[in-house]
Amino acid sequence: MADGTSSSPLAVTLGAMELQTPVLVASGTFGAGREASVFVDLPKLGGVIVKSMTIVPWRGKPTPRMCETPSGILNAIGIQNKGVDHFVAEDLPWLLKRKATVIASIAGNTVDEFVKVADKLRTGARGIAAVEVNISCPNLEDRNNMFAHSVEATSAVVGEVKKALSRVPVFPKLSPNVTSLSTIAEAALNAGADGLSLVNTVFGMAIDVRSRRPKLAGTIGGLSGPAIHPIAVRAIHEVHRAFPHVPIIGQGGVASADDALQMILAGASAVAVGTANFVQPRASLEITDGIRAYVEEQGLASVSELVGAVKLEG
Ligand SMILES: Cc1cc2nc3c(=O)[nH]c(=O)nc-3n(C[C@H](O)[C@H](O)[C@H](O)COP(=O)(O)O)c2cc1C
Repeated sequence: MADGTSSSPLAVTLGAMELQTPVLVASGTFGAGREASVFVDLPKLGGVIVKSMTIVPWRGKPTPRMCETPSGILNAIGIQNKGVDHFVAEDLPWLLKRKATVIASIAGNTVDEFVKVADKLRTGARGIAAVEVNISCPNLEDRNNMFAHSVEATSAVVGEVKKALSRVPVFPKLSPNVTSLSTIAEAALNAGADGLSLVNTVFGMAIDVRSRRPKLAGTIGGLSGPAIHPIAVRAIHEVHRAFPHVPIIGQGGVASADDALQMILAGASAVAVGTANFVQPRASLEITDGIRAYVEEQGLASVSELVGAVKLEG
């Protein structure tokens, strides 16, 4: 428990969601766990945030849709996925059979599409621990502006998803590409969000100077990996200071226990490891071991004592 009474010092509570460890794997970097389960014992993770799912299968964007950059990668995958029905029928039972803690991630191009996915999860997906709402999607009803870049669209999508999923913790995943993250966070919380995931990728672009063409077919992509870690820590700090009681799943460039602990000290109750899974498939478990060692070394009863414990003065 987050109050430190649990037998495991790594157990954390995020509102109604209880996790055995604070280390999750991030959406889109671990699929639905099948390939990675060769390297990672899934129940040892705090949870698996699966690839974002949509109401019908999406093919994603044209290739090339990933490229390496200094200390990171750029991607413009376009949420290629097999759709919510496939998740409910195939991936979820597979994960639950292996005793994984599962967080679903939903996406859509309109509020209605998000709600349809949420409805399918309510009726078909028993056993999920929470739902992450990937609002870093273009909103077809608002000139392709990302939902997460607008107070109104964030409020609309979170409010409608929460209506559909009143019994499941809902964590909208916010974009760092905004002037005031706290304003968007406030809109999500007022619309009924139970917690927040901070942050999705940072807009970026890379050019091949020989061909003079963008390295991604989609020109602009999302930057992830160590390059964005300080941006994510700042975002968590900012939102935690504004809303200290709101559970936060931190993500963005976590590649070591130190990176994860920085996010926890800034105010995250859990972290999700993304790009680091591509470098080292067991990164999440190594990070968990490093957090455990730090908690022991510091003589703490629970990792939760560290949440937001950054010392700002003196
Ligand atoms: C190849 C790739 C695919 C991703 N797909 C999704 C996705 O489907 N849904 C989502 O919410 N985030 C997606 N993300 C973002 C990650 O979940 C994560 O929030 C972000 O990459 C920052 O963490 P990291 O720096 O540890 O990777 C993706 C990231 C990458 C690199």
